[in-house]
Amino acid sequence: MKQFIIFVTFSMLLFFSTCKHEPKPIIRSSNNDTSLKELVCFNTQILPLITASCAQVGCHDAITQEEGLILNSYDGIINMGTEDLVKYITLTSGKMMPPLPQSRMDIVNINLIKKWIAEGAKNSICNPTNCDTSNVLYSNEIAPIINTYCKGCHNTNNKGGNVNLDNYADVKASTLTGKLLFTINASAYTLMPKGGPKLSNCNLRKIQIWADKNCPQ
Ligand code: HEC
Repeated sequence: MKQFIIFVTFSMLLFFSTCKHEPKPIIRSSNNDTSLKELVCFNTQILPLITASCAQVGCHDAITQEEGLILNSYDGIINMGTEDLVKYITLTSGKMMPPLPQSRMDIVNINLIKKWIAEGAKNSICNPTNCDTSNVLYSNEIAPIINTYCKGCHNTNNKGGNVNLDNYADVKASTLTGKLLFTINASAYTLMPKGGPKLSNCNLRKIQIWADKNCPQ
């Protein structure tokens, strides 16, 4: 009996000591709206932005870990600290991130990150419930996707693969060559966004429909 009590006590100790209280992701349904009215979704709005701007190869990716930071996951971003994150992305010289000669993030994206932090910097996961492809234009549907998932690595000051996706003309040109569609549908090392994950089926569908309609503005 004594042995049994010791055994139970010991296993309970073991159980509690290994039981980490990970914050559970919060699942929300959303229509993937990137306007500032809705609550910010970490997986669809924040992570891709930070990954594209900060977790490029040679920076804060899992291999390079510049300054010991890996910024391609929720935990990595929280470990860095949201105060520091805001500090470095809002600087305009010195230790600004991404560093010169790259440009600062768009102010719209900086404000989105600030809004996410003000809402508690939660690991909020949004699963788009409907995929509205009835009126896909560059201005209403495509620009927000490119802005969130691609622009950090494809802008005037940081042309990954010599590809600039800064504006309508650039995105249209890259789409008409077939390269853009090829890379977002590719697997493994040719996949864009580089380092993945692949765009959602809804976003892939929207870009395909937009391309099929000859890229309406
Ligand atoms: C983390 C940085 C990063 C992100 C995010 C990213 N790219 Fe790229 N992209 C690159 C780099 C670097 C190259 C050059 C080729 C390589 O290194 O794989 C490239 C190459 C390309 C090319 C040229 C491929 C070729 O065959 O010449 C296209 C088109 C492209 N990217 C489109 C996109 C699109 C569309 C997105 C968003 C869905 C995106 N990229 C997101 C870094 C990125």
